[in-house]
Amino acid sequence: MNAAPARWETHRNSVERALREALDGSRAENRVVEAMRYSLTAGGKRIRPILLLLAHEAAGGRSEAAAQAAAALEMIHTYSLIHDDLPCMDDDDLRRGRPTCHVAFGEATALLAGDALLTHAFGLLAEASGIEPTVRCPMIATHAGAIGYEGMIGGQMLDLDAEKKNGLSILELQTIHERKTGAFLEAAPALGAMAAGASDETTAAFREYGRKIGLAFQIADDLLDVTGTAEEAGKRVGKDAARGKATYPGLLGIDRSRSRARELVEEAVRALPCDTPGGDLAVLARYIVERIH
Ligand code: IPE
Ligand code: IPE
Ligand code: MG
Ligand code: MG
Ligand code: MG
Repeated sequence: MNAAPARWETHRNSVERALREALDGSRAENRVVEAMRYSLTAGGKRIRPILLLLAHEAAGGRSEAAAQAAAALEMIHTYSLIHDDLPCMDDDDLRRGRPTCHVAFGEATALLAGDALLTHAFGLLAEASGIEPTVRCPMIATHAGAIGYEGMIGGQMLDLDAEKKNGLSILELQTIHERKTGAFLEAAPALGAMAAGASDETTAAFREYGRKIGLAFQIADDLLDVTGTAEEAGKRVGKDAARGKATYPGLLGIDRSRSRARELVEEAVRALPCDTPGGDLAVLARYIVERIH
């Protein structure tokens, strides 16, 4: 994929800094913190925090003010990956180009590292000093809704249940993807807008953009599992079919899945209420379906 726009790099750097600061301040230097740091610093595209920061900027905010909130999103995403990889879930041994957290630290520590990242993230959000205290509360509620049983966790449950099912409809599959992955990606730009004090109408438009790219993101992830390589993806490929996962290429084939993802991205771009000067939110949306990792 072509190089990311310079503004993404700026945002990525501020997320990395906020993540470092969040853990450097830790009073308990023990194994669980080591495992949290191991998974957090293994790389990762940082799409969710970058989305938050780009939307924040597009809605008129200053990105430094939202860096802590953006870091919180990445902590939650990393927790979801650690748990997703556990033997009782997808049973993966490679993540972000490294042995998965449970392979490196053992299952119990990986479980705790995920729990600690999730918990710590909500603390960071509550204390995000650049954001008006009156806005932090609705942001926390939005976030909790997106990743809880109505969103990501509910979707992960459906994903596991679907391993044992045949004849899933495309609508059922869409629901799984919208919940396990889409809900979080939908929330990220909406949170950025909220942090900037945007109106409900503007926030809803960013949410709609996020909803479309969220589904496209998981379709692209399904495609990478079929067409990608472990070197590029930093994780095993070909595992979805082996585990009987419900996926877009499994149901629609590669070409129709790719066209659906591209369609969604164009719909997302049309839903945008405004963008940063370089059109970065549109570029990011298109990157999501063309990426190779
Ligand atoms: C992988 O997410 C898990 C899914 C929701 C598909 P990413 O593709 O954003 O993973 P990293 O953060 O770049 O490692
Ligand atoms: C993961 O979906 C979704 C969440 C982590 C919530 P996948 O199971 O497809 O993600 P990968 O392929 O392991 O990264
Ligand atoms: Mg999974
Ligand atoms: Mg997985
Ligand atoms: Mg996958």
